[in-house]
Amino acid sequence: MSFPKNFLWGGAVAANQCEGAYNEDGKGLSIQDVLPQGLKSAPTEEPTADNLKLKGIDFYHRYEEDIKLLSEMGFKVFRTSIAWSRIFPKGDEQQPNEQGLAFYDRLFATCHKYGMEPLVTISHYETPLHLARKYNGWANHQMIDFYANYVRTIFQRYKGQVKYWLTFNEINSVLHSPFMSGGIVTPKEELSLSELYQAVHHEFVASALATKLAHEIMPEAKVGCMILAMPTYPLTPNPDDIIKVMEIDHFNDFFGDMHVRGEYPGYMKRYFREKGIEIKSTPEELQLLKEHTVNFVSFSYYLSLCEGVDGEEIVGNFMGGKKNPYLKASDWGWPIDPKGLRYTLNKFYDRWQKPLFIVENGLGAKDVLIDDGKGSKTVNDDYRINYMSAHLRQVEEAIKDGVEVMGYTSWGCIDLVSASTAQISKRYGFVYVDRNDDGSGTLARYRKKSFLWYRDVIASNGALLESMKL
Ligand code: BG6
Repeated sequence: MSFPKNFLWGGAVAANQCEGAYNEDGKGLSIQDVLPQGLKSAPTEEPTADNLKLKGIDFYHRYEEDIKLLSEMGFKVFRTSIAWSRIFPKGDEQQPNEQGLAFYDRLFATCHKYGMEPLVTISHYETPLHLARKYNGWANHQMIDFYANYVRTIFQRYKGQVKYWLTFNEINSVLHSPFMSGGIVTPKEELSLSELYQAVHHEFVASALATKLAHEIMPEAKVGCMILAMPTYPLTPNPDDIIKVMEIDHFNDFFGDMHVRGEYPGYMKRYFREKGIEIKSTPEELQLLKEHTVNFVSFSYYLSLCEGVDGEEIVGNFMGGKKNPYLKASDWGWPIDPKGLRYTLNKFYDRWQKPLFIVENGLGAKDVLIDDGKGSKTVNDDYRINYMSAHLRQVEEAIKDGVEVMGYTSWGCIDLVSASTAQISKRYGFVYVDRNDDGSGTLARYRKKSFLWYRDVIASNGALLESMKL
């Protein structure tokens, strides 16, 4: 048995991709409410009816039955985010919206009722729209105060209910998608590197401040950073390719280094110097970064890419790279690389020596709903079972390598709306939700074949994976 006894098995979602109810109970608009195409096109002026996220999978009203259903798989942990604009509809108010706070009271109580520990992302690509439009999101230093007010409010309210917190979802993605990730309205092409890295600095300070406040308000709390992990391999042994990969790695490792070591690394100081970037910071901020580092490092892992002087360009999750000729790809062109997960776990552990938490992994695929012969419906998603078994086997290998892995929450454990494409037909779940890309459907929930498989994996604490070596 390789998985530790207290391994946190579970699943993950984000508020904006499943809750719906985008304007109920006092919720303000978030940037997602004006992104009907995900990353594929610019934001609209107002929410438009074709934006699936406005309705999501109606988790806001159905959370109780959904959590109950997920608990049948034996989840120990359920990762979700708090929609900032439910708590502070505009983001710069002093007083929170009580109805928003009450919703998460009910949700977290339901998680506990069904034996799950909530794992909460404080900001998952859902900056209040007002903060984006009025302040230009994280490009503005004032965001630190708005975020601090928000985190103080939710920590005080949910202390005793939530132990595990993540400060920013995939914090490194702000370099690639400043609007979705950082609420920055200035188009990427017009944003200078100084403005971009200044925004990153603001997020680092906010993250350290949240860590400090969490530990003061909830001494038991464990706070993690959350990184989009996408290992990059050299396309050839050409030393130029190796150096290129090292440099790409630095741009991602930078985010973990800041959260774990608490100071700007030499390779970034060099980059800033050579690019003429000057980060405005105060001695107090630098001290905050140094003193309030994270308890663990969490990350998402879907794919790996290659880099090199030559090679065919492809686009993955937010970032692009070169195609790896040894890997097959998903229906959406994301290369499938289970061993990259073992590699990432080892690399991160070697570098940071902090417990690691895989908080997103999974396969976005087209599912076909069929009769199950017992009066209900199901999906024969062997492809998803194969994908996840192969990845979990590599987690097991990493644990054998000595890596401390806290848990695994598969992404989109119940079908939800995709972040990059805003489709629901890009399905990740163990639970099928009867909703189509055009918004039609009954919203009925059905257990897929992978539901039963994951239930058995959890019940055996991973031992089942041994018998299905792929
Ligand atoms: C991560 C995000 O980038 O990948 C999630 O944290 C997202 O919000 C997930 O849904 C999968 O990406 P996509 O584009 O298939 O939804």
